[in-house]
Amino acid sequence: MCGIVGYVGKQKASAIILEGLKRLEYRGYDSAGVCIVQGGRLEVAKKVGRVEGLSKEAARHHFVGTTGIGHTRWATHGGVTDANAHPHVSSDGRIALIHNGVIENFAKIKTFLSGKGYTFKSETDTEVLCNLIAYHFAKEPQENDGQNRFLESVRKTLRHVEGTYGIAVLCLDFPDQIVAARKASPLILGVGDGEYILASDASALISRTQNVVYLKDGEIVHITPTTFSITTLDQEDVSPVVDKITWTIEDAELNGYAHFMEKEIFEQPQALENSMRGRFSEDGSTALFGGLNITAAEFRQIDRFMFCACGSAWHACLVAEHLIERFARVPVEVDYASEFRYRNSPLDRDTLFFVVSQSGETIDTLAAMREAKRKGYRVLAINNVVGSTIAREADGGVYQHVGPEIGVASTKAFTSQLLIGAMIALYVARQRDMSFSDGVQYVEALKSAPNLVRRALEQAPRIKEIAKRYSHYNDFLFLGRLSLFPIALEGALKLKEISYIHAEGYPAAEMKHGPIALISENCPSVFFVPKGEIFNKVVSSMQEIKARKGPVIAIVTEGCELPPGLADDVITIPECHEAVLPIVASVPVQLLSYYIAVERKCDVDKPRNLAKSVTVE
Ligand code: M6R
Repeated sequence: MCGIVGYVGKQKASAIILEGLKRLEYRGYDSAGVCIVQGGRLEVAKKVGRVEGLSKEAARHHFVGTTGIGHTRWATHGGVTDANAHPHVSSDGRIALIHNGVIENFAKIKTFLSGKGYTFKSETDTEVLCNLIAYHFAKEPQENDGQNRFLESVRKTLRHVEGTYGIAVLCLDFPDQIVAARKASPLILGVGDGEYILASDASALISRTQNVVYLKDGEIVHITPTTFSITTLDQEDVSPVVDKITWTIEDAELNGYAHFMEKEIFEQPQALENSMRGRFSEDGSTALFGGLNITAAEFRQIDRFMFCACGSAWHACLVAEHLIERFARVPVEVDYASEFRYRNSPLDRDTLFFVVSQSGETIDTLAAMREAKRKGYRVLAINNVVGSTIAREADGGVYQHVGPEIGVASTKAFTSQLLIGAMIALYVARQRDMSFSDGVQYVEALKSAPNLVRRALEQAPRIKEIAKRYSHYNDFLFLGRLSLFPIALEGALKLKEISYIHAEGYPAAEMKHGPIALISENCPSVFFVPKGEIFNKVVSSMQEIKARKGPVIAIVTEGCELPPGLADDVITIPECHEAVLPIVASVPVQLLSYYIAVERKCDVDKPRNLAKSVTVE
């Protein structure tokens, strides 16, 4: 939530910052702003709305300075107004600040600062933080050498702050420097050719450099035109590690697609290939993971798995639960990360924890992971963004390797999480009762997933046409059973988040226990109807809906014969192994939601009120 960009170098900072903000816009799009040091002032342009609007506003300022900061906001404290937009400037005009996070003790600090004569133009916690830096800066001994005076004022301020932050600070007295720091909000330093770029995530700086330093919680970076140094809140020096980003700017471009969501849906075959590459044993009977940091013998001792995540990642955990219990016969519990952290649930001694997060920055998932670690559990992470906080703090894990996911609605990251969950189920199962030949068959099935998804994607024109006919409905139900119940939840989440249609996911047989009251000709139901033991049961549930005039869209596997007239529309997906079915079945509901949202002229990649990465509680 909220995107941060900072620039110190020789180029005009505003152009680079605005380009970065455009790429970070998916993190927050309530308002945007930029501050450039020039003409002896901290010159600010900020505006409610998108970065495009800010660019026009910025043009009026004729920015030429080579040091600056910029921000896209997802509002927490204070409404969506120009005054609340970042950057904020201290009332003495010396300090400018951008902030991602929440300052919990801001009210107390504000009272203190008001007593010292500082004034406030906004309702934000950020402006309070900014003035507190100005207060400490004014108090810092003048004889401190220039660099330290600025740096120390930020350090002192952060020692008084409770809450979370990723910040970048400008100081009028040191016009070519930035001080930035983080606590539970992501911050990366790009080390370019004679320039430094700060950003909340790599997409904002990848066009200028692939060399990055991932800042850790409690670290402060001080950037000057020629160098940077990292220290901790306790003034200890940190030796920076410069990593290389493995993807390029092209991966973060639309490349001819109308939206990132569309692009990412169609990238799924390749994304799945990347997620499983090199991760099968030579004998082809099980999965292998390089970074678990837990031996096979230790893994075999695990008698229970606990999975924590949020949103779509939580749905992926439910599928993993189904597959691990079904194939490995080991009990699994799945919890919302936000609930787990406060629930204090009883845990067995030999429980292995998994957290699942595309971004690796979701604050609830991070907090759940930290709580599990505090209790002494080993935590493994399934995560896409390399170098993310969750990846770094986990005891081990599996990177998804699907490249940047920019659409707010998760698609390729979700199906890759399904795949990795299925691979973990295989790994655990082969350590226990699964036979060699069943393992080989399972591996072959997983390897076929990219092609099966390719075939499911061929249904896109038909699904687009169906979407046109259903886009006017305001309520939908998604119904599935067993491993497809979580996909029903996912279908409902996709539809509501990008097209603002009320949608619910249910196990199909639960209909008659309440939700069937919703059924009328105005509420379509999307049924997953795979071949197999529950086929007839699902058909019975469909009959109950049809008898009440509910429109029915059926997603069936090849070769399924539905009774005539039972479904108004049928989408066919390839028949596949149980471990792969949730992946393939996700495709039609992703496409249906996408095309309905497009039909309703919704802003698919930036749905209202949402942000890609939820870094506040
Ligand atoms: O980055 P994460 O996987 O931790 O994100 C978790 C959820 O915020 C995310 O899946 C969210 O539900 C998506 N918007 C779903 O499309």
